[in-house]
Amino acid sequence: MSLFIKKPIEQIMLQAADSEKGLKRTLGATNLVALGIGAIIGAGLFVRTAAAAGEAAGPGVTLSFVVAAIGCAFAGLCYAEFASMIPVAGSAYAYSYVTMGEVVAWIIGWALIMEYALGAATVSIAWSEYLNELMDGAIPYSLCHSPFESFTDSAGVLHTGLINIPALFILLAMTMLLIRGTQESAFVNSIIVFIKVSIVLIFIAVGWQYIRPENHTPYLIPETMGVVKDKAGAIIYDYTPWNRHGWGGVLGGAAIVFFAFIGFDAVSTAAQEAKNPKRDMPIGILGSLVVCTILYVLFAHVLTGVAPWQDFVNPEKGREASVAYAIENYMHGWDWLSTAVTVAILAGFSSVILVMLMGQSRVFYTMSNDGLIPSIFGQVHPKYKTPYKANWILFFFVGGFAAFVPGHVAGDLTSFGTLFAFVLVSLGVWILRVKSPNVERPFRAPLAPVVSTLGALICLAMIVGLDSETLKVAFAWMILGLVVYFLYGRRHSKLRNMSDVLPKASDFEKR
Ligand code: ALA
Repeated sequence: MSLFIKKPIEQIMLQAADSEKGLKRTLGATNLVALGIGAIIGAGLFVRTAAAAGEAAGPGVTLSFVVAAIGCAFAGLCYAEFASMIPVAGSAYAYSYVTMGEVVAWIIGWALIMEYALGAATVSIAWSEYLNELMDGAIPYSLCHSPFESFTDSAGVLHTGLINIPALFILLAMTMLLIRGTQESAFVNSIIVFIKVSIVLIFIAVGWQYIRPENHTPYLIPETMGVVKDKAGAIIYDYTPWNRHGWGGVLGGAAIVFFAFIGFDAVSTAAQEAKNPKRDMPIGILGSLVVCTILYVLFAHVLTGVAPWQDFVNPEKGREASVAYAIENYMHGWDWLSTAVTVAILAGFSSVILVMLMGQSRVFYTMSNDGLIPSIFGQVHPKYKTPYKANWILFFFVGGFAAFVPGHVAGDLTSFGTLFAFVLVSLGVWILRVKSPNVERPFRAPLAPVVSTLGALICLAMIVGLDSETLKVAFAWMILGLVVYFLYGRRHSKLRNMSDVLPKASDFEKR
């Protein structure tokens, strides 16, 4: 039987309709937009905005956000079409099963582990760093770093990491919340979203009065910046490469802030828990993308207006904790806001972790129902109706990374997994338009061939732009995935082995 055996779209929808055994439909449009914002606003905004301004785009980082948003919008439109049309858990994995066949679906399911599981691990490590900052470094170094990290303090004492306990703690808390129920998780997520969006808005409103027009002039980094050195003659930063000044810098900045948009697609993993997916999925996906883009552009405008972007690349100034730095140094009298921003960052990271873990468990749930991974991943809690065993297994897997692996290792792999999924979803929409033109599409991506092609090309270009080490690790991960598929998935695939007992298209029509 072909490796590219495809799941009939009618079968997938019939399985999704069987809510007796499966997930509960509890989420409305507002929950879904909040879920998207919950997953989107995090380290990307609070950490990478300043990095992109200082290293590539200057005040033009606002334009970088627009460019990254356009790339995401193409993919977002394609996600919206799929999620309203095939409202099942599993997102890109499920769509690929219908459009490109089992082995492609497997590959994308495997890549999504990089996006969601490693994404959650990365953000939990960042959460640990910020908690320690809020506590003025009270947590011993060894208990909040992996064994691969060490540093020598000013007294010459070597500190070595052992285990990252705060990262494990936040993962455990979010796992327990997820198991307790999707609606409960969505409720807590909404509170967190309210807190972090409020603080972003306060920063924008207060900071607006402190914008100094000279900080925005010139708007892009001039080519003449060249190499910047400190007083001792050591190189601080080299602006000569094409993507570190001018319009090239705006593109370079877009690649840096792309991370800030990761997460809007997580909304689509909850399609099987949406009350009215046909209407609400496009609202959830595109609505959260639009809200976040507006907030990001305003935030970036204020941040680069308050503090000169040159500070964000200078290790003696605002290279770290840049937002707090800008407030403390340029917005006198607003020191409480700097603490509030740290609290918002912690809250923001928590909801990113929550939605990432949720997305991953839903992908596992769907893959397990298809027989491609063991059935334990698909077992739903008798009372809470959540895939609790998948959540626990995920906790140990993600926790292992968070406790013992440095954060930067997982970060770029998260971008790879996401971009890879975006490429396949963008292409999938077009393929299904050609192959199944008559299936009902409650939401249609406009100008499908153009949107699909541009979505795939832009995301492919961003993949090529990732560093070669990341690409090598990602390649090795995908090879491992194929080995697992041939040893387990292919043999246990329900579609492959039991296609006669699965519901048929004709059953669906009778309903
Ligand atoms: N978009 C998420 C963040 O910025 C991943 O943290």
